[in-house]
Amino acid sequence: MCGIVGYIGDKPVVDILLEGLEQLEYRGYDSAGVALKTASSINVYKAQGKLGNLRDVLTAHLSEVSHSSVGIGHIRWATHGAPSVVNAHPHTSNCGDLVIVHNGIIENYKELRQELEDKGYVFKSQTDTESVAHLIADIYAQVKDLPKAVHMAAKKIQGAYALCIMHNEFPDMIVATKRNAPLIIGVGSGEYFIASDVPAFIKHTKKAIYLKDNQVAVVQKSSSLLVEDENGKQVTPKIEELPWEPVSLSKMGYKHFMLKEIHEQPDIIRNILTGKIKSSSSEIVLDEVNLNVDSLKKLNRIQVIACGTSLHAAMIGKYIIEDLCRIPVDVEASSEYIYRNTVTDEQTLVIGVSQSGETADTLTAIKQSKVRGSHILIITNRPDSAMAREADSLLSVNAGIEVSVAATKSYIAQLFSFYLLALYMAEIKGTVEEEKLSELKFELLMLPQKIEQILTHKDDIQKCARKYANTRDFIYIARGINYPTALEGALKLKEISYINATGYPAGELKHGPIAMLDETMPVLSILMNGSVYEKLLSNSEEAKARNARMIALTNSTDKKLDELFDDIIRVPDVAEFLSPMISIVPLQLIAYYIAEFLGKDVDQPRNLAKSVTVE
Ligand code: G6P
Repeated sequence: MCGIVGYIGDKPVVDILLEGLEQLEYRGYDSAGVALKTASSINVYKAQGKLGNLRDVLTAHLSEVSHSSVGIGHIRWATHGAPSVVNAHPHTSNCGDLVIVHNGIIENYKELRQELEDKGYVFKSQTDTESVAHLIADIYAQVKDLPKAVHMAAKKIQGAYALCIMHNEFPDMIVATKRNAPLIIGVGSGEYFIASDVPAFIKHTKKAIYLKDNQVAVVQKSSSLLVEDENGKQVTPKIEELPWEPVSLSKMGYKHFMLKEIHEQPDIIRNILTGKIKSSSSEIVLDEVNLNVDSLKKLNRIQVIACGTSLHAAMIGKYIIEDLCRIPVDVEASSEYIYRNTVTDEQTLVIGVSQSGETADTLTAIKQSKVRGSHILIITNRPDSAMAREADSLLSVNAGIEVSVAATKSYIAQLFSFYLLALYMAEIKGTVEEEKLSELKFELLMLPQKIEQILTHKDDIQKCARKYANTRDFIYIARGINYPTALEGALKLKEISYINATGYPAGELKHGPIAMLDETMPVLSILMNGSVYEKLLSNSEEAKARNARMIALTNSTDKKLDELFDDIIRVPDVAEFLSPMISIVPLQLIAYYIAEFLGKDVDQPRNLAKSVTVE
């Protein structure tokens, strides 16, 4: 996935494109480029690496570019071909007249490339995108109509794409189209913006058109916008008023966005609680769930689909829902779900969990289950996303914009939403006694201050983290409801420090992973009071007996732990059922402090992107 921007209007385009790309950096940051209409031609400028490098290139060509007011730009997350200048977008046709930027994957690019090479086209890059540049140029040479050429090319392309195209013969025109990838047109006064996401233009306009799959938009400087359906028939696009305020993203004095976002977690939970649980004795209000009592009672299965960190929240969601609602829950990585003949029907509730609401695999999975008649409930941080548009019920987690690629606050907000959802369904189904329900609500209300207590002691966690910063591998173990916490803790560490960290259900250690243990291996045990405490303690003893460096993350005051563990991170006491909300916070901090100590690019780790719009 990548980010696309485009602008046509009267203002200097360079700044608009660069500012837009900066807002889209979460989609990729391995190279960037722009194509600008200048007095005599369309010029392309590209740079490998972060956006700053492109900024330098443009500064060096200021006299050429400063008067341009039409252009397209791109920020790349490499799929086909290494991050390099030659593979960076925009890509140019052989005639030099047509330029293109693309987000997505062209699945039949090899066939297209062969066909075009046979016709004499010469490819410069290893990208899938370049075949589209030549394809449109080839068709254009015959039909001499750019929008028509785009329509015809789209019919030959397989895969997902959002495309912006410029042509020297139409210097004041941008043509845009999309299929299974986001593309939004911002409508200003006498100007248009095109972007993969709203933040790229929200400071200029709040009016926008969400382009639909296979539509082609023709944006011209004469202040005209034409949208055609896949058959080339003109349609009247719906101009929406975006419920967004421009936000200036600031680290608020923190060294990294990740640390700031970890600190925002208590307030995020308070916000989610507002209006939903007033007190431990009041009913949960969850108007977002559009399932009536009858259909809720008829549900015989829940499937939760997600990727990455959201998948870990979903795995904990399974424990929560099965325990409280007594409905079987399956959790699956979206990328696996979509290629399986799943048993999904009208009595299945399908829950999609996604911070971005755009993840291609989850979106595809959701669409598939919708066709099978399931009610679709989406838990997302982006109520304006593609997934939100597919939702029958939309639980917006309201964590605010998360800049750091490693998800923290969005995870805790998703997790919290699972607690609310499960309690809500349990109340309706009558599967939990009143007394237990009020106890749980009381504990939920206490969570923000308990997380604050952990954050107050972050210096101790920092000290502990630094002791392990030079390890090559790291093992996290847990049992029961905190097993996914171990996975998430390990994921955080590997994402930002590149240490080989793995989470295991502690009972599985002896079936293989224990072979790796010696005096160099840190083993962090998520030892929360409750049903599996003693079992996990025994598993920790087994690891200690193999000389591993033992760390406990615990709410226990058990003295035995002092002998067994080299380091102990203590957290406030909490009911086992809610402990994942507490135990994840020190793990986020450990990952953060190790990566920070190692001097890694914490907010933008290598090879990753925050929104993954390719399958
Ligand atoms: C990427 C991000 C992860 C995220 C995953 C799923 O890999 O780097 O932080 O967990 O995508 O994204 P989603 O937006 O669906 O939660």
